[in-house]
Amino acid sequence: MPVHVVDHPLVRHKLGIIRRDDVTTKNFRALASEIARLLTYEATKDLKMETKTIKGWAGPVEVESIKGKKITVVPILRAGLGMQDGVLDLIPGAKVSVVGFYRNEETLQPVEYYVKLAKDIKNRIALILDPMLATGGTLIATIDLLKKAGCKTIKGIFLVAAPEGLENLEKAHPDVDVYVAAIDDHLNEDGYIIPGLGDAGDKIFGTK
Ligand code: URA
Repeated sequence: MPVHVVDHPLVRHKLGIIRRDDVTTKNFRALASEIARLLTYEATKDLKMETKTIKGWAGPVEVESIKGKKITVVPILRAGLGMQDGVLDLIPGAKVSVVGFYRNEETLQPVEYYVKLAKDIKNRIALILDPMLATGGTLIATIDLLKKAGCKTIKGIFLVAAPEGLENLEKAHPDVDVYVAAIDDHLNEDGYIIPGLGDAGDKIFGTK
């Protein structure tokens, strides 16, 4: 499973600010979106191109445009919504397919509570958005769901990943490309990434 750690100076700098304990809601929100935008730039590097001839100011000119498959972004509720604006800044025509899961406290398995996918999702590249790839449970359930809906090309964009989550994902879906700003050290006993960002949903929504 290809894991792309985007270690661009801008990403590393912004990650250094978003990790601060005293980061404000406003700044956390802005940075989550800005880092998501930079990761999207990397995640779309392999899009296929085609050439066509258009009418330019000085006559016909050969230009390039993105070929074929369109994109749907798939924010995982609720924290994934905090990355959506940054991604849509670069891909304004993308459709948004939203998924939400809760955890069954007996089985500890993720259970869908909201799914609204783009109608033509099987013809689109899916870019899953979630700030934190922790255990990977919800992510794997999301990919199961997208594959069942006919999605053939799926990528995941995360601010921070835990090695445990990447390992679980590799076992379940080795065909999914991952783009992250950082791979952190470990998960603690409560399932938080260390050093991580804390509860990304609370920080984006200001519900801490
Ligand atoms: N979800 C979060 O918001 N933070 C973590 O560290 C792990 C999961």
